[in-house]
Amino acid sequence: AGLHNAAVAKGKLYFGSATDNPELTDAPYLAQLSSTEDFGQITPGNAQKWDSTEPSQNTFSYTNGDVVADLAAANGQKLRCHTLVWHSQLPNWVSSGTWTNATLIAAMKNHITNVVTHYKGKCYAWDVANEALNEDGTYRDNVFYQTIGEAYLPIAFAAAAAADPDAKLYYNDYNIESPGAKSTGAQRIVKLVQQYGAKIDGVGLQAHFIVGSTPSQSAQVSNLAAITALGVEVAYTELDIRMTLPSTAALLTKQSSDYQNTVAACMANAKCVGITIWDYTDKYSWIPNTFAGQGDALPWDANLVKKPAYAGILAGL
Ligand code: XIL
Repeated sequence: AGLHNAAVAKGKLYFGSATDNPELTDAPYLAQLSSTEDFGQITPGNAQKWDSTEPSQNTFSYTNGDVVADLAAANGQKLRCHTLVWHSQLPNWVSSGTWTNATLIAAMKNHITNVVTHYKGKCYAWDVANEALNEDGTYRDNVFYQTIGEAYLPIAFAAAAAADPDAKLYYNDYNIESPGAKSTGAQRIVKLVQQYGAKIDGVGLQAHFIVGSTPSQSAQVSNLAAITALGVEVAYTELDIRMTLPSTAALLTKQSSDYQNTVAACMANAKCVGITIWDYTDKYSWIPNTFAGQGDALPWDANLVKKPAYAGILAGL
């Protein structure tokens, strides 16, 4: 039994969880995270972001990221590496720097080359670019887009491919889990990178959902089909399904079926390679810190006890 074992039995590569360095001193938490029956893959929630890995220009720091990479290796779990080019958790020297097209391309390539080379051979996948789109599918007006234009995306993918030819290279975003302008935008990015002649292997669907308003299974199935028709794989990379607190038995039951439907959508597409939840216990979820009054988004409660959502995921796998 277990989530990862069930996923693998049905032909998927992994079921996994995000984690973060401060939590790893919690022994019961670490023991469950390391259970490969449930988790065959982990993602560092913060440790590989630009502000962690290159806090000042050309000074690289891999301590926290290495802890998570070493844990994955010790446990025999795949590592999803997250993330190289993103507008958030970006140090001020990048976001508020004085750049020209040429100097920002050079700084971005230097970042990607250093980080990807450091983790070469350890990452199943890299989220090369994260959240590059607005809700209407246009490009987010971040420093990279402002300075370089849309070419920053294929340039980033080409640099990552050069540094680790074996890592799967992903575009990752939220609100792209059902058909619509933003998913169409993600598909446009796939085609852009392909037309540039650079490698892109996958699209990551974050799937930060809300109980009761999760996209339907059929909408998710159609959406995955549209993306994989472009010749790339897909994965659910940051799945959680939050609710307005306090939770009730009815909300927890609905959460369970919402998890089941999303997991089943991945199962229905042979190119959906795996599912990652954005940590596994409500004890360490990012949700309450970001969405006031909301939480209880994960399949284990804050006491590390399985919620109805666990059985829902298992039923969807
Ligand atoms: C979140 C982390 O979980 C938090 O600890 C941090 O404070 C903010 O970022 N989309 C992403 C993730 O791609 O990197 C974010 O992670 C959640 C939203």
